[in-house]
Amino acid sequence: MSPPRIGQVEFAGAIGRPGQAPPAALRQVAIAGRSNVGKSSLVNAVVGRKKIARVSGTPGKTREINFYSIDDRFYLVDLPGYGFARAPESVRDAWKRLIEDFLSDNDLLHGLVLLLDARRGVQDADRQLLDYLSANDIPVLVALTKIDKLNRSGQARAVAEVRKQLGLPSDQVVATSARTGQGVATLQESLLALFEPTPEGEA
Ligand code: GTP
Ligand code: MG
Repeated sequence: MSPPRIGQVEFAGAIGRPGQAPPAALRQVAIAGRSNVGKSSLVNAVVGRKKIARVSGTPGKTREINFYSIDDRFYLVDLPGYGFARAPESVRDAWKRLIEDFLSDNDLLHGLVLLLDARRGVQDADRQLLDYLSANDIPVLVALTKIDKLNRSGQARAVAEVRKQLGLPSDQVVATSARTGQGVATLQESLLALFEPTPEGEA
């Protein structure tokens, strides 16, 4: 049997303020990480559409929570980045509130992919998010981004370092590049697996 594939992808709507409802009550998987880490680029790569999510070299491009429906089965959710130091404090606070509001008491959220720049690894703001996710039993997958910027030995080192820092098994850390496509199929499969029934039911 061939693995499941992503077919129809549509922009379903956005949330710009805390308290706003998602476009529909579909299950969700979110893509999160620091500003400019490559969230929107990876969303595009995973769904195989070059320009569905807006990408920019200027940090702080994504300011709203954007919902992309995947085959009408679930939403891939592109979050605004955190930790953009040059943004005015009022803007940073607004982003923080928006993201926190989205994450809290969200029964539809089935998992989150935390993106880490392969050259930078785990930073304080990432740890805060991870602590929150584990306290709330939200499954997390880590994707290193821009892995094309490192040579082979650098890539292996970056993966090993993050695994060690976070104490994660190898199948929860994937090295990716939106530019070369490395790791994108693996990530896609892990995302789709989140929405498949488990043979043994709830473990
Ligand atoms: P915000 O929405 O501002 O938080 O940014 P983002 O995390 O969505 O990042 P975005 O996808 O907009 O990409 C930021 C920059 O990184 C852009 O200049 C991209 O072209 C570049 N970039 C993203 N992914 C990769 C990658 O895999 N390899 C390389 N070399 N550059 C990348
Ligand atoms: Mg973005």
